[in-house]
Amino acid sequence: MIVCETINELRSIIRKRRRTAPEGIIGFVPTMGYLHEGHASLMRRAKDECGYAAASVFVNPLQFGPNEDFDRYPRNREHDIALAEASGVDLLFMPSLAEMYPEKPLTKVLIGQVSERLCGASRPGHFDGVGLVVGKLFNLVQPDKAYFGMKDAQQVAVIRRMVDDMNFPVEIVPCETVREPDGLAKSSRNVYLNPEERRQAVILYETLEAAGRWMREPGVTASDLTSRIRAKIAEAPLADIDYAELLKYPDLTPPEPGADISRHPKELIVALAVKFGRTRLIDNRVFGSAGR
Ligand code: PAF
Repeated sequence: MIVCETINELRSIIRKRRRTAPEGIIGFVPTMGYLHEGHASLMRRAKDECGYAAASVFVNPLQFGPNEDFDRYPRNREHDIALAEASGVDLLFMPSLAEMYPEKPLTKVLIGQVSERLCGASRPGHFDGVGLVVGKLFNLVQPDKAYFGMKDAQQVAVIRRMVDDMNFPVEIVPCETVREPDGLAKSSRNVYLNPEERRQAVILYETLEAAGRWMREPGVTASDLTSRIRAKIAEAPLADIDYAELLKYPDLTPPEPGADISRHPKELIVALAVKFGRTRLIDNRVFGSAGR
């Protein structure tokens, strides 16, 4: 595996790859590091499907709000290099802040409607920062396929929309959320949880499981479901709900009020963001169309 830190080096490696393997395709996994099994599964899939896997580790300040955890976001360079290598990555791009943003970018990437609710509402500007860095990384790595975890289902919807609107020549591949044995979604932020918060955090998974059962009940409406979801999360005394919403996916607009959700013709997402102490966790599940 080649580890590279500069844009010049990255570009020359990608150019060489395109010359020496013109038929070969490049799979790409962008990350913010502190890699775990969720990232490893994306990397293995990129390698399996593309034959050549590139990944990046860059904690992007533009997607953090002023009072968020940019400074304390966990980082571990040696662990990240070892995990990427063990997962079959051929090229790991680990740029510095100065390399990615020699100047504060003046360009804005604003991806409308899909970025406005859920994390977009709780974290103003978050998806503008994600759009900008992912657009930059796509221009640098020029991947044919890019792999994203569905734990960040809104991010997947936002990036897909950006790629469609801007005709980036890349296929976005959404990948299933990887979970701990008790169901908690793997996340770099899980390390912030103390043992009691970690124990209670499983309520997110239990709520999604319960929501799946409730959604099959004939006549259930969006407001019934949302109240039951909120009540279920409140069973964990430390849980502080940021949002708990039922929306259509991937457009992230609300279903018609009063509609029978068990017969809803479109995909729906139950999306949760819940704080335990200072740690904000997200999770979600996308449910298929009628007959779910
Ligand atoms: O999902 C993440 O880790 C980040 O939002 C991403 C896509 C690497 C952009 O910084």
